[in-house]
Amino acid sequence: MLLIETKNELSSHLSSILGNKLLGLVPTMGALHEGHASLIKKAVSENDVVVVTIFVNPTQFDNKEDLKKYPKTLEADQQLIHGVSRAIIIFAPSVEEIYRNDVQSKSYDFGGLENVMEGAFRDEHFDGVGTIVSSLLKIVRPRRAYFGEKDFQQLQIIRKLVEIENLDVTIVGCPIVREANGLAMSSRNERLPKALRQKASFIYDTLLAAKEKFGTKSANTIEDWVTKQFDKHPAFKLEYISITDVERLLPVRKKQQNKKYRAFIAVYANEVRLIDNIALN
Ligand code: PAJ
Repeated sequence: MLLIETKNELSSHLSSILGNKLLGLVPTMGALHEGHASLIKKAVSENDVVVVTIFVNPTQFDNKEDLKKYPKTLEADQQLIHGVSRAIIIFAPSVEEIYRNDVQSKSYDFGGLENVMEGAFRDEHFDGVGTIVSSLLKIVRPRRAYFGEKDFQQLQIIRKLVEIENLDVTIVGCPIVREANGLAMSSRNERLPKALRQKASFIYDTLLAAKEKFGTKSANTIEDWVTKQFDKHPAFKLEYISITDVERLLPVRKKQQNKKYRAFIAVYANEVRLIDNIALN
C-alpha cells in the first residue's frame, strides 16, 4: 500500500501505472469507519486502480473548534484501507500542498442547492467542499468518484460542480451505512456517551415513521409530527427536518408522481451535531 503526500509524486506514479486502467477516487477526511469502507469497497469492485484521499479540508469548517477537534487517525485509517485492499493508493497531502499560502475557498453558484439545510446552517460550507473536491478531481483525474448518500446534499452539489466545471468523471452515490441500532455511521458518533449513542436510534426510527406516513400525509404534516416527537425527547435538539425533492432540494408543495423525495434531519445530541436522511418514495 502506497502513502503519497505530494501532487507531483501522485501524478508521476499514476502516469507510470495507469495506461488504459480505470481509476476510481474516494475522497475522505480520515477517521474512517465502515461507512467509508463501503465506498472504498465499491470503488475497488468497479475500477482497476483506486485512490483514497485523506485530507481534513480547513475551508469547509465554519466552526474553527470543530476543525481543531477533527480526529486524526492516520494509522488506523491505513489499516482499514489495507483491510479492503493492499493495492489502494492513499493520497494524504498537507494543507500547504493543496492551498499553498492561500487557505481560501472559491465562491460557487450551485443553483440554490447550497442555500438550504446544511448550507443555511453552515456558512460557506459548500464553497469549501466545492473547492477541495474540484482540486482533488483535477489532481487525481479519476473516471469515477464515490460519495455517500449520508451527505446527500453534498452528493447533489458535487454532481452540480461536475456539470458547472465540465469535468469528465462519473459521480457514484453510495447508500448510508448504519450502526446496528440504525444510527447513521459517523466519526462524530464516537463523541456520544454510550447510553446516548444507543438512544440515538430514535433519529432513524423517526425517519422510518416519516417514510411510512409519506404515502398518506402531506410533507408539512409530517414535518410538524417529527418536530413534536423531538419536543418530547429532551436528550435531542432538532435543528431542522425538511422534506424535499431530490433534484433541487426544495420543500414539497404538492407531491408529484414522477418525482423522488427525501426527508433530511439535523439533530444535536449533547453538543454533537448529527445528520441523516431517508428516501421517501
Ligand atoms: P467525510 O466526512 O470523511 O466523508 C467521506 C465520504 O464518506 C463522503 O462521501 C460521505 O458521504 C461518506 N460517508 C460518511 N459516512 C457514511 C455512512 N455512514 N454511509 C455511507 N457513506 C458515508 O464528506 C467528506 O468527508 C468531505 O466533505 C469531503 C467530500 C471528503 C470533502 O472534503
